[in-house]
Amino acid sequence: MERLLKSDKDCILVAESANDNKVVGMCTIQTLISTAEGGQVGLLEDLIVAAGFRHQGIGSKLLAEAVYWAECQGLKRLQLLADKNNLPALGFYKNQVWLSTELVCLRKP
Ligand SMILES: CC(C)(COP(=O)(O)OP(=O)(O)OC[C@H]1O[C@@H](n2cnc3c(N)ncnc32)[C@H](O)[C@@H]1OP(=O)(O)O)[C@@H](O)C(=O)NCCC(=O)NCCS
Repeated sequence: MERLLKSDKDCILVAESANDNKVVGMCTIQTLISTAEGGQVGLLEDLIVAAGFRHQGIGSKLLAEAVYWAECQGLKRLQLLADKNNLPALGFYKNQVWLSTELVCLRKP
């Protein structure tokens, strides 16, 4: 998180409670270079809203701000990874018109 805070090419967005300025939601965007797109793209990570603050539109606003930030930076694409078992999140993204891809994520342990 400290490295992201210091980075001038990545972004941390937070949602604060109007009552006490407590952070109740966040997401991050990290920039990558896509040779396929011919420019910078963004990886959206860490989208979370505190359990007691969900279903109030905070997640949607964070996503909208992430898209706006990406547009302002001239990023050619925003992408994210979600657990295929995280059905609430997948439904949420679908309703926000984020499209599933045919890509499969692999990792080397
Ligand atoms: C996914 C997550 C970020 C969504 O955050 P959120 O603040 O609840 O999102 P929103 O309130 O904008 O939208 C959630 C739902 O509430 C509904 N909603 C929004 N405002 C509302 C309101 N005022 N009253 C009732 N419902 C409302 C939306 O229509 C939406 O429905 P949908 O899920 O069917 O699309 C949140 O559930 C979360 O933190 N989950 C755990 C972490 C996680 O899985 N993150 C994703 C990792 S890939």
